[in-house]
Amino acid sequence: MKFLPILGLVASLTSTTQAHGVFSTLFINNISQGDGKCLRTSFAADNISSPITDIDSPEMACGIAGQTPAPDTCAIKAGAKLSFEFRLWASGSLPETGNNSHLGPMAIYAKQMGDASSVDPAGSGWFKLWEYGYDEMSGTWATEKLMANDGIVSVQIPSAIPTGKYLIRPEIIDLHNLEASPAQFYIGCAQVSIIEGSSKPLRVPTDDMVSIPGHIKASDPGVHFNSHPSAIKTFPYILSGPRVYEFHGAKEITEVAFGPLNDPSRIVSAPALASSMTRPIAIRGAGRVRHREL
Ligand SMILES: *[C@@H]1O[C@H](CO)[C@@H](O)[C@H](O)[C@H]1NC(C)=O
Ligand SMILES: *[C@@H]1O[C@H](CO)[C@@H](O)[C@H](O)[C@H]1NC(C)=O
Ligand SMILES: *[C@@H]1O[C@H](CO)[C@@H](O)[C@H](O)[C@H]1NC(C)=O
Repeated sequence: MKFLPILGLVASLTSTTQAHGVFSTLFINNISQGDGKCLRTSFAADNISSPITDIDSPEMACGIAGQTPAPDTCAIKAGAKLSFEFRLWASGSLPETGNNSHLGPMAIYAKQMGDASSVDPAGSGWFKLWEYGYDEMSGTWATEKLMANDGIVSVQIPSAIPTGKYLIRPEIIDLHNLEASPAQFYIGCAQVSIIEGSSKPLRVPTDDMVSIPGHIKASDPGVHFNSHPSAIKTFPYILSGPRVYEFHGAKEITEVAFGPLNDPSRIVSAPALASSMTRPIAIRGAGRVRHREL
C-alpha cells in the first residue's frame, strides 16, 4: 500500500474529491482510540469519503478497503459504550462533521468473527444493534442528529453479548440525491475483541441475521424515499434491513445514541497517534476542540 505524505493527501482531496463523510475514529467509554485505530475503512486519498452506491458490492460490508484487516483490534468489555465519529474528511482538515445536505437513516450492525484480523467481512452473520430513521415529531433525520452531535453516534454494547471478536459497523444511508444517484452508503467497521461477555455461543435467530451485501435489496422502499428538502414525502419512513436484535436487557442501547461524550481532554495519547500514523490518514493531533465544549 502506498502511504501518502499528509500534506499531499489533503491537497489531493481538495482538488479531486467531492467530500461526503467518513468514519474516522472509534471511542471506547467516551475515550478516543486515535484516528484510524482499529478501523477498517477507506484511507485512500481519492475516495476517502466517497459513498458505496452498489448495493450488491462486497464493499457494503465494511466500506472501500474494508476487506483489508486493521492492524489493531481494540479490546472492549461487554456493556461498554462505543462511539463512532464521522467527519467530512478523515483528516479533519475541514471542521464539518459530514455533509449536512446528506439526509437519511442510520444503523449499527455487528458480526462475530472467528478471527477479526483476517476474515472477509462480506457475507452472512450480521445483526443489527441499533437503528434510527426519521423522527416525525421533530422532523429530524438520523444524520441531522449526528451532525448536531459533532458527528458522534454511540451504542451500548449489550452486556449479554458473547465474548469474542467482532466487527461493529455503523451505517449512514443518504437519500437526498435519489434523482441523480442510488442511495449512498457511508460505512466502516471497528475491529474489536469483546471480553467479559457471556460464555455461551452467539445465537441470533436466523430471521434477525442477515448477509451484507444483501441485507437491503435495491428494490427496498427504504432506499427509495427521497429525503431532499424539496421532495414530496409520504411518512412514515420505514427503515431497511432486519429488526434490531435485542439481547435481554438491551433497552439500554438506544438511549446513548446521540448523547454527548465525556472525554475531558479529547487528547489522543502519543502511542495511539504513533500507531495511527502508520496508516495513510492525516492526523489532526490532540483531538478536536469542539465549539460547544468551549
Ligand atoms: C455536500 O453535498 C452536496 C450535494 O451532493 C454537494 O453539492 C456539496 O458540494 C457537498 N459539500 C461538501 C462540503 O462536500
Ligand atoms: C479507491 O482508491 C483506491 C486507491 O486509488 C483504488 O484502488 C480503489 O479502486 C478505489 N475504490 C473505489 C471504489 O473507487
Ligand atoms: C460518557 O459521557 C456521558 C456524558 O458526560 C456520561 O453520561 C457517561 O456516563 C459517560 N460514560 C462513560 C462510560 O464514561
